[in-house]
Amino acid sequence: MKIIKTKHQAKDQLLKYKNVGKSIGLVPTMGALHEGHLNLVEKSKYHSDVTVVSIFVNPTQFNNLADLEKYPRTVEEDLKLLESKGVDYVFLPDVEEMYPQEAKLKMDFGDLETILEGALRPGHFNGVGIVVSKLFHIINPDYAYFGQKDLQQVAIIRQMVNDLSFGVELVVVPTVREADGLAMSSRNRRLNPADRKNALVLYESMVFAKNELLAGRTWFELKDKIQHKFNQLDGVKLEYFELVETDTLNIVVEQHITDFDQGKKYSLCTAAFVGDVRLIDNLPI
Ligand code: PAF
Repeated sequence: MKIIKTKHQAKDQLLKYKNVGKSIGLVPTMGALHEGHLNLVEKSKYHSDVTVVSIFVNPTQFNNLADLEKYPRTVEEDLKLLESKGVDYVFLPDVEEMYPQEAKLKMDFGDLETILEGALRPGHFNGVGIVVSKLFHIINPDYAYFGQKDLQQVAIIRQMVNDLSFGVELVVVPTVREADGLAMSSRNRRLNPADRKNALVLYESMVFAKNELLAGRTWFELKDKIQHKFNQLDGVKLEYFELVETDTLNIVVEQHITDFDQGKKYSLCTAAFVGDVRLIDNLPI
């Protein structure tokens, strides 16, 4: 496994594969790797001739300095894991390499970012769009692998890839969960034992809502019950719990499952603070 730290080294090392028609798979990460990331790596190893994992905690996507500072950084551990999975290259740039100058470009994703995460984390998707564009330019991947857990991020990146004609195919991989259902996330390692227990409320509420909806309960009735479940837990604050059309992320206001458009896919999306850790999750219906 080779470590690449600069754009120049990336061109130098990776162009040779492109020139002989080998495909490059990119798994973009911010490190603190877990099974979810390793699952993306596995998919890339299966589909692509060469697998590159990037590790970069991107400052421009944090709208809160404390969150950026507290973001777990475990590079040595990450590198060992990636080596054991047979990754070919790790792109490990520093902030100066990625941002030699302050990015002034602003990406506006319209109605895709005025809801859910975008509504609560102003500027977040601008930062994601900028860094992912940079990674696509630097690595020039044929395939890029993203987790379904970040449903809105996937929608935004898909829009960006189409709007800017990036020649990369996005591969979206289902969320990997702990045995009890908690979605794997780098942030989970910051949960204390009590919060780790409480964090299950995200998944359990979505499973409850899905089952109730399928059993014919109205969305209006359910939303109140869900809010109540979150309110009962100490130190847990629900930020949103929404039902969306999976492809467009349009928020669904229909009250009853029989009103749903049979030709469309739907997902539940939620975010909550558990202690001072902000978690997100989603579940297809
Ligand atoms: O999903 C993430 O870890 C990040 O948002 C990404 C895609 C690596 C961009 O920094």
